[in-house]
Amino acid sequence: MKAIVQDAYGEAQDVLRLEEIDLPSIGPQEVLLRVHAAGLDRGVWHSMAGLPYPIRLAGYGLRAPKNAVLGTDVAGRVEALGSDVTTLQVGDDVYGGGRGTFADYTRAAADKLARKPKNLGFEQAAALPVSGCTALQAVRDRGRVLPGQHVLIIGASGGVGSYVVQIAKAFGAVVTGVCSTAKMDLVRSLGADNVIDYSAEDFAQAGERYDVILDTGGNTSLRRLRSALASRGTLVIIGGETSGKWLGGSDRQLRAMSLSPFVAQKLGTFIGLVNAADLEALTGLVESGQVTPTIDRAYPLSDVADAIRYLQAGQVRGKVVITLADETQGGGPSDALG
Ligand SMILES: NC(=O)c1ccc[n+]([C@@H]2O[C@H](COP(=O)([O-])OP(=O)(O)OC[C@H]3O[C@@H](n4cnc5c(N)ncnc54)[C@H](OP(=O)(O)O)[C@@H]3O)[C@@H](O)[C@H]2O)c1
Repeated sequence: MKAIVQDAYGEAQDVLRLEEIDLPSIGPQEVLLRVHAAGLDRGVWHSMAGLPYPIRLAGYGLRAPKNAVLGTDVAGRVEALGSDVTTLQVGDDVYGGGRGTFADYTRAAADKLARKPKNLGFEQAAALPVSGCTALQAVRDRGRVLPGQHVLIIGASGGVGSYVVQIAKAFGAVVTGVCSTAKMDLVRSLGADNVIDYSAEDFAQAGERYDVILDTGGNTSLRRLRSALASRGTLVIIGGETSGKWLGGSDRQLRAMSLSPFVAQKLGTFIGLVNAADLEALTGLVESGQVTPTIDRAYPLSDVADAIRYLQAGQVRGKVVITLADETQGGGPSDALG
């Protein structure tokens, strides 16, 4: 099968290669998936580049990546089942988290997959797992957003932010999204009640105090975030990119967690996890029309490096995906091996 592989950390154009490799073998609790589409997110760049450095200690591989095939998000069809898998059948169309999804086939733990929403194609479904689960967990579990609460979403036009806006609206919040001028129309179309263009207006100076702030971009200082938060409000720092090779922007998160026990405001962060229950919850939100993935561009497997460069350039509106198998074609593992 074809796959995007790397054997060293670095930038896309230097380390990624399209190669023929063997099909992955599956464990008892895994399935083999024919990949129809694979999602791209900032985490893919981090695992490709091996930055910030602490992720290398967290299991990615100290000097070189442990997993040769890149990619986590997947939507595809079940081709084979591990001996202990009882929740899925061969032929099911699913989406979720796989292990090396920029390939014709991938393996995935059955408990990180759910049935594909009926009203989505594979491309749209592949844009959901990491960003959608993170957004759901931010709104529901960390922000504990309640109907009528005023919620500020920073980075509202991005991969995670575009889902946070829609999920916060589904939870009944009054949503204000912060983004650049060029993406204001997108954030409005996602359902935001108010949109702040950060190049024209400073949300921290506007005098509004929000019940919940969900921050996915821009690295606003903790002091400024707190000044826009209600006295007993909740701040959830989901992320924010910096060029820092050691902390990669996580210093804000560390400061928020250290300060939180000493102040009335709740300040925190978390690491989002893809799991079957939250994917099912996302499927419900998608099928009821409350959440729709926004696909900016789809790239073929051979152009993964271009897709990663496009994401890193910061122009993406919503999500970027990689398209593999033709949705109308079947094609079993033997076809891939020729
Ligand atoms: N905690 C977790 O488990 C978790 C999970 C997934 C992702 N993350 C992290 O969350 C962050 C966002 O990920 P993503 O996939 O959504 O990235 P993304 O698609 O690149 O979105 C980031 C957004 O931030 C916006 N932005 C940039 N500067 C801004 C500013 N000054 N003010 C407001 N918005 C600004 C950009 O939009 P504009 O062009 O409109 O500025 C962009 O749409 C990343 O750091 C990622 O690593 C964390």
